[in-house]
Amino acid sequence: MKNVQPIKGFSKLTKQAKLAWLVNHYSQKPEQTLGMLGGYWHKDAEVQQLHDEFIENTISNYYLPFGVAPNFLINGKLYALPMAIEESSVVAAAAKAANFWMDRGGFRTRIISTQKVGHVHFIWSGSEAEKLKEFFAASKNAFFEKSEDITRNMVLRGGGVSDIILVDKTDLEPGYFQLQATFETCDSMGANFINSCLERFAKTLQEELAETTMLADEERHVQIVMSILSNYTPECLVRAEVSCAIEDINEGSGISNSEFADKFCRAIRIAEIEPYRAVTHNKGIMNGIDAVVLATGNDFRAIEACGHAFAARTGSYRSLSHAEVVNNRFVFSLEIPLSLGTVGGITNLHPMVKFAHEILGNPGARELMEIVAVAGLAQNFSAVRSLITSGIQKGHMKMHLLNILNQLEATDSEKEQVVEYFKDHVVSYSEAVRVFCQVRGIQQDQSINQA
Ligand code: MEV
Repeated sequence: MKNVQPIKGFSKLTKQAKLAWLVNHYSQKPEQTLGMLGGYWHKDAEVQQLHDEFIENTISNYYLPFGVAPNFLINGKLYALPMAIEESSVVAAAAKAANFWMDRGGFRTRIISTQKVGHVHFIWSGSEAEKLKEFFAASKNAFFEKSEDITRNMVLRGGGVSDIILVDKTDLEPGYFQLQATFETCDSMGANFINSCLERFAKTLQEELAETTMLADEERHVQIVMSILSNYTPECLVRAEVSCAIEDINEGSGISNSEFADKFCRAIRIAEIEPYRAVTHNKGIMNGIDAVVLATGNDFRAIEACGHAFAARTGSYRSLSHAEVVNNRFVFSLEIPLSLGTVGGITNLHPMVKFAHEILGNPGARELMEIVAVAGLAQNFSAVRSLITSGIQKGHMKMHLLNILNQLEATDSEKEQVVEYFKDHVVSYSEAVRVFCQVRGIQQDQSINQA
């Protein structure tokens, strides 16, 4: 590691200067690193500029594989799901679940609600909350009227501010109140719209307080702590479900249909009562969700944070999915809050994101919520199905084999021979190395024999 001094005004440097500073200070092989970073630039300068301008200090692009999982039958309509993800087995697992359920009627979904929420968090030092409530009730219209310039377009599109309420939080923190606003943001995720409205509400609160005669002078002051949307959107909820007769649930995995259904439901039950398992279980759901969310240019951090908070809404962290047998039918479902957009953000800018939306038939936000929930349910089904039958490693390592071979710098012909061998053998890292060495005709080197 070189001795690096802090740098001032980095963001103001040209891209070339930033690159030069970076490789000279942080790379052992500056020329080679420059070449590598340049190799990831887009050949079309305009497209590269788009990427440069998404964030500050862009020096290159970061590729993830963009895959597609076809044959998703959702509410009778066939989709191919775009997925951006690095984990070897995710797209294969999604495609497998899609095929499985396509033959059993496909996925059904339902939008439960689409409401977003945000808060003005403030401190009021008056002693009688009732007086603040009366003031708010009398001035409530002003909050709507004074934000009309911001809300006009959204209202024309069928959305806007649904309601604003005053919430007394003084039992948690002295003087702490909130203006809690709920929003419909149509096809946009709505973060900028919501935050702009909230900042206006904060200003309006101060203006209305300054003018009111309902409160004494010392009660007409508030400290606005912050105005911000909440990424916790339990009222922006979607449900996805699959079901089939018990006798159709299992195909050739060596256990009976009823044992499969029993083990599957038990596995889900364990994830409902056991947080260690619940986290891994929900991570599997997020494998599918994040991949489609990322491919469609949505905010996967918000989706993750919200999903996990929702999973913990009862006070303990639980599975987001549920399985049961009802009247001899296996029913598997997922309910998850998904605040997504199909307009705004980078959805109309990033060429791959635009293509992802095109593959999906340019859905609105509600339809995208349904598709993404299905991706989560499908992924969860494949993972749990493997876990309770063959075990997860068989499929996972098979998909990971090419990564191992690439790490070993295998040639195409070596890859072909090793892959051929593993068609009927179980893959492990050490076995892959052993077979690779055999194919290459070299002694197994201890230094590469580590997982
Ligand atoms: C791996 O990325 C995801 C799984 O661990 C999910 C699960 O255990 O359900 C396979």
